[in-house]
Amino acid sequence: MSSKRFLTGITPSGTPHLGNYVGSIRPSVQASRRTDVQSFYFLADYHALIKIDEPVRIQRSTLEIAASWLAAGLEPERVTFYRQSDVPEIPELTWLLTCVTSKGLLNRAHAYKAAVDQNTAALQEPDANVNAGLFMYPVLMAADILMFNAHQVPVGRDQIQHIEMARDIAQRFNHLYGEHFTLPEAAIEDNVATLPGLDGRKMSKSYDNHIALFAPRAQLKKLVGGIVTDSRAPGEAKETEGSALFQIYQAFASAEETAALRRAYAEGIGWADAKHMLFERIDREIAPMREHYTALMAAPGKIEEILLAGADKARAIARPFTAELRRAVGLRDLRTVSTTKSTVKPAKTALPLFKQYREADGKFCFKLTKPGGRVLLQSLGFDSPRDAAAAIQLLQTKGHAALAELASCLQPIADVSDDDIEAALQQLAAAAT
Ligand code: TRP
Repeated sequence: MSSKRFLTGITPSGTPHLGNYVGSIRPSVQASRRTDVQSFYFLADYHALIKIDEPVRIQRSTLEIAASWLAAGLEPERVTFYRQSDVPEIPELTWLLTCVTSKGLLNRAHAYKAAVDQNTAALQEPDANVNAGLFMYPVLMAADILMFNAHQVPVGRDQIQHIEMARDIAQRFNHLYGEHFTLPEAAIEDNVATLPGLDGRKMSKSYDNHIALFAPRAQLKKLVGGIVTDSRAPGEAKETEGSALFQIYQAFASAEETAALRRAYAEGIGWADAKHMLFERIDREIAPMREHYTALMAAPGKIEEILLAGADKARAIARPFTAELRRAVGLRDLRTVSTTKSTVKPAKTALPLFKQYREADGKFCFKLTKPGGRVLLQSLGFDSPRDAAAAIQLLQTKGHAALAELASCLQPIADVSDDDIEAALQQLAAAAT
């Protein structure tokens, strides 16, 4: 496989709207026609479970979104178009990746942090109403991407962090088990418009300001009629700047058509006429797809077949790759066990070590040792493990400057200089970054 691989996931959580079409479906379908890229498109239904507990809604949305992509021109023969939950290797890979992902990385994920911040602001427990799926979201997404060794993942800005996490996780896995994964990159499409909604804010399901992509013609007309405008009368010049109507028009029209509407604004076109122009322009692009969509929605069995065929294609890659990964981590056929010599990994670069332990008298102590075992620092007994940990933390953050402060709880050790201690602390600090 020499061509670049693109991969995009869509969470089936609702009915696609014009914003999804302009921002994701249309550019992706265009990209899928390129002969120099190999494209993967999938319905991220496992991701949908994180936020939706209505089975019927997930099923319905999966159908609607699949039908929308096909109606918009996605050719399943040219690309790999599948449903995430038809590829059991993905949750399997999720587990392998989970075990190389630091929990701290996930603590820093925007979506999880936003939930925690919201709870904190509402004086609730930080993790109130947060399911572990939300916490694990980035790992599942990493598995989606890494399974197919995608080079580029076209995403909105809100998803960049997830791609960076997928890279981090891939790097960690490669470091431990060999170069299995391609490091993915986010492809941000700057020239793709963010569509405003009926009220001028970004078109979004959560603002309830959207226009359903395949609303019937009469309904589309009504919805377009509801786009906010200012109160300028016909004959008065209109501003294109900040006009949701103008921006939506621009997302569908050619440069000449846009220039014509700009002139009409300056010349005082009435809002009713402008809305009529917009409605007709959208409908011109959408009507043929709408017909196709309606036919597809009436034949869910056909879509099911298309998705299952896509899953076969996806699994033709995922199955052997998963076998390779299982082997790499040690989930192996026992008959292949090496009888000659156990292949224990060479020790990692040896580092100094803080050890906390409990003395026979019940007190809590710590010591700092060099890789060979030589003791550099030895504490006296603390009453609680927290106190011992706090002293260690002080040493880790302040270095040997903390020694004076801690003098009363350290035992003197012959032949160890402050410099020895400082060197060990610095080595530890460097390894931690
Ligand atoms: N998180 C994406 C979204 O909500 C959907 C998604 C799931 C995805 N897995 C992915 C996108 C892998 C790109 C690659 O929009």
